[in-house]
Amino acid sequence: MDAPRHFLTLMDLSPAELERLIQRAIELKGWHRAGREHSPLRRKTLAMVFEKSSTRTRVSFEVGMTQLGGHALFLSPRDTQLGRGEPIEDTARVLSGMTDAIMIRTFEHEKIERFAAHATVPVINALTDRFHPCQLLADIQTFVEHRGPIGGRCVAWIGDGNNMCHSYINAARQFGFELRIACPEGYDPDAGLLAAAGDRVRLVRDPLAAAAGADLVVTDVWASMGQEEEQAARVRAFAAYQVHDGVMAAAAADALFMHCLPAHRGEEVAASVIDGPKSVVWDEAENRLHAQKALLEFLLAPAAA
Ligand code: CP
Ligand code: NVA
Repeated sequence: MDAPRHFLTLMDLSPAELERLIQRAIELKGWHRAGREHSPLRRKTLAMVFEKSSTRTRVSFEVGMTQLGGHALFLSPRDTQLGRGEPIEDTARVLSGMTDAIMIRTFEHEKIERFAAHATVPVINALTDRFHPCQLLADIQTFVEHRGPIGGRCVAWIGDGNNMCHSYINAARQFGFELRIACPEGYDPDAGLLAAAGDRVRLVRDPLAAAAGADLVVTDVWASMGQEEEQAARVRAFAAYQVHDGVMAAAAADALFMHCLPAHRGEEVAASVIDGPKSVVWDEAENRLHAQKALLEFLLAPAAA
């Protein structure tokens, strides 16, 4: 049997496959709005392993499977043997025998890589400490819907060099946009990822310099899941990195604002920005559903696409 395709990072698909997936997501959204049924995943099951909390990811994958005619199964370490130390390699083999794809949200990225190496069905990264590729599918779809192709455009990332920032670096490579990252010293993204992106990505310290003329301004929480005890230190370190009206004013006149959510108004983003006219965060959140339906179809029923 051929090794399955996995989606652990944006680099697992070619730029052409990613472009097609975004177009397909837009198409599936239109079909859904029009009430057109599309159920290529009948009798297929997605296992969803969550070792961290989630609202959007859980709901979008579960609803997406339902809309595609399949079924999703929520599994948490609290009530599976994963929480009692069953090796993930064994869990990967067992779930592969009974389900058609496995989605995982966990801590160490190495864990999902080990899981995928032992799975015989597609494995999808629903967030690790290092990457959040599914969110990028929704973000790119949202930009394309509002502004057309993102290739050649300029994106400003303001804040932590975290899992979302890492996925934006990969997206800059795969979708061909310029990315400027403004983060305080000590919170830089991974140096290897930056080097691999070459001149597509530039690290600047000043949020206003990063935002200057940008077509899209993006931020995320200052303390990610698993960093709760660092919250107070991070609030101090990131104090000058809030996306407020002044940052948006430095961007292009028609710039968009995105945030993967959940957001902390008054910390990484001012309420006037996230709740203001340039913010597309609700479209961005809804597009998790449509983009992941396109991903599930790509991985499980490519002939239907
Ligand atoms: N953006 C995102 O992944 O949200 P959840 O943590 O609610 O899934
Ligand atoms: N960087 C955040 C994203 C949440 C969707 C975290 O990892 O908690």
